[in-house]
Amino acid sequence: MGKLWQGFASGKVCEIADDFNSSIKFDKRLFKQDITGSIAHAKMLAHRCIISEKDAAAIVDGLTGILEDILSGTLKIDESAEDIHTFIEETLTARVGDAGKKLHTARSRNDQVALDLRMYLKEETENILGKIKALVKSVTDKAEEYKDAVCSGYTHLQRAQPITFGHQLMAYAFMLLRDCERFTDCYKRINVSPIGCCALAGTTYNTDREYEAKELGFDGIALNSIDGVSDRDFVAEFISCAALLQMHLSRFAEEILLWTSWEFKFVELSDAFTTGSSIMPQKKNSDMAELVRGKTGRVYGDLTGILTVLKGLPLAYNKDMQEDKELVFDAADTVKACLDVFAPMVAEMKANRENMKTAAAKGFINATDLADYLTKKGEPFRSAYKICGEIVGYCIKQGKTLETLSLEEYKKFSDLFGKDVYGEIDIKNCVNKRISAGGTAVSSVEKQIEYVRKRFA
Ligand code: ARG
Repeated sequence: MGKLWQGFASGKVCEIADDFNSSIKFDKRLFKQDITGSIAHAKMLAHRCIISEKDAAAIVDGLTGILEDILSGTLKIDESAEDIHTFIEETLTARVGDAGKKLHTARSRNDQVALDLRMYLKEETENILGKIKALVKSVTDKAEEYKDAVCSGYTHLQRAQPITFGHQLMAYAFMLLRDCERFTDCYKRINVSPIGCCALAGTTYNTDREYEAKELGFDGIALNSIDGVSDRDFVAEFISCAALLQMHLSRFAEEILLWTSWEFKFVELSDAFTTGSSIMPQKKNSDMAELVRGKTGRVYGDLTGILTVLKGLPLAYNKDMQEDKELVFDAADTVKACLDVFAPMVAEMKANRENMKTAAAKGFINATDLADYLTKKGEPFRSAYKICGEIVGYCIKQGKTLETLSLEEYKKFSDLFGKDVYGEIDIKNCVNKRISAGGTAVSSVEKQIEYVRKRFA
């Protein structure tokens, strides 16, 4: 295919340079956006009498046919074209003749590519939001199932305090809720139309940018034409939302990996989401979780990539900006693939209540409750804390737990201990007393589940 820019320049680019310059191998996936944008542009040109209604109708017809043919597979995208914009315009002109040559009036590929990318990201943001919601549903349903399953909560990966497995899962639901808020907010800034900014300076034609923006479902137009074609912060913002989401998925994946290890055995994944080993017959590996964790690195790379491409670019359009597409495509594809595998993986995972309870019983995770018991009986918290520390030390030496220590032994450490201490340190009670807002008690977790479900209703 020829070049759209054979004006003063001869267009005789050497093969290696031509290949290097070309973007069609990756921007071909913008064909739908490019055609939709061009249809709106032709309509606007006719609406302002810049081209005739007849020409506009020929363009719209021609473009509609091209879209149908690409979708049905009868028209193959010719990768010898420089980019998708070239391919569509050249194909249009080949099909409808001179009218096709009028399409590029009052626009440039600079505003065209920015438009296509914004349209693509609007759609991808909606797709991702839908997929996060599906994951949140899996997580909240699982949390509900295990809202009373006692386990140990960890700090420093050391057993810390008793919680419920449902409470832990709901922590991820809240992270994902914020991810949704971030993408929704980012959408507002993507939803601004750059078309009509032209190369950088606007145009002498009497265009109607608002009309074109409305036709394409944008909220408004870029108010500075130089900014409109130079700006890619919406790309960086989208990838940064993706990176934060991946970070959450990666932490969740890491916990699933710990929980499914033989050392923990808190969780078992369905066979549908695990693999085996080619040599060790006993293995059931949580590859999907590992891949989610690993792919997080890619998305971070995409973010670093786009920020680095943009850093130091003078205004307005520079060819460097062509590098935005592979990065943002990769980030969107990766995030969607991770969400797609994560939601059913969580929906099908089973927690082992017995193992979690056993782990919770062994690590003195009710020591805080023991200190609170003494504090409520009048001992200042700091000294209660110290006494309980000594009790834990004693238990370790004797091979006992707080539950198996006799009242006589307790009394050696403080007169304040009575028979009621056993109820206070009962793990289930420890959980259900934590009714403070956001706490681990079943009633509190139920409120959290209800809140998240309402937010997504
Ligand atoms: N393929 C180009 C890109 O992705 C399209 C814009 C070309 N503009 C130009 N002035 N050469 O950025």
